[in-house]
Amino acid sequence: MVQLSLPKNSKIGVGKTWGTPKKSKRQKVFKIYRWNPDVKDQPPQLDTYTVDLDTCGPMVLDALIKIKSDLDATLTFRRSCREGICGSCAMNIDGINTLACTAPIEDIKGEVKVYPLPHMSVIKDLVPDLTHIFHQYKSIKPWLQAKKGPKKERRQSVEDRAKLDGLWECILCFCCSTACPSYWWNGDKYLGPAILLQAYRWLADSRDEATKKRLEDLADPFKLYRCHTILNCTKTCPKGLNPAKAIAETKKLMVANGVMAEG
Ligand code: SF4
Ligand code: SF4
Ligand code: FES
Repeated sequence: MVQLSLPKNSKIGVGKTWGTPKKSKRQKVFKIYRWNPDVKDQPPQLDTYTVDLDTCGPMVLDALIKIKSDLDATLTFRRSCREGICGSCAMNIDGINTLACTAPIEDIKGEVKVYPLPHMSVIKDLVPDLTHIFHQYKSIKPWLQAKKGPKKERRQSVEDRAKLDGLWECILCFCCSTACPSYWWNGDKYLGPAILLQAYRWLADSRDEATKKRLEDLADPFKLYRCHTILNCTKTCPKGLNPAKAIAETKKLMVANGVMAEG
């Protein structure tokens, strides 16, 4: 039988404990993934932080900010808007990819386990490396393509505009792509649910004139067709969107336009 073992630096060790439990009855323990590329040969570890909820806001991001300001200034994570619209605080909380700023602490029973988005390279602590996925985003040309510049405003019917609902709301947090098994294994060639939802957002836009070319650009065995309709993406999207449906609609457009996957 094949013996598999994980590389040394992917085994997570026990880390430091921060914050002394006080008399407050409203305390919560956070176990947070830590990894610092500047400490040579140091494997990742789970640090333990005890937070007094009486002096903390209600969301997991509030606790991370409190930990950083009161207990451990070295804890590293991304955040910006604090209201679920910038996508930067996406991480794995209690086993689910979601936004820390819209994840209520009180919804989590017991210790709160916080990891970076899965199956991405880690830059530091809770910060994943998004370089590759943003290159993939660029590859679908996420802008309106029309042959001539407009002499006046491009108008849409109410019905055509409605076709963009469920697409424009995507905040590129990548909770979906990093929950997709096909993206885990083939992320170098498969575009994954976030990028494919964005691709469909332009295919569905009545003002765009590059539909055929956009479909031809997706016509290979990997970019689109690695989706196996497992639906992890739709289940985890913190904005309630349905990337799997966008992918299915794109496959229908491929057929309707006679575009075949090559290879
Ligand atoms: S439905 Fe497709 S994109 Fe969504 S998780 Fe499954 S394989 Fe990935
Ligand atoms: S579809 Fe949802 S989970 Fe995926 S990137 Fe957009 S907002 Fe995030
Ligand atoms: S901080 Fe912007 S989505 Fe969470």
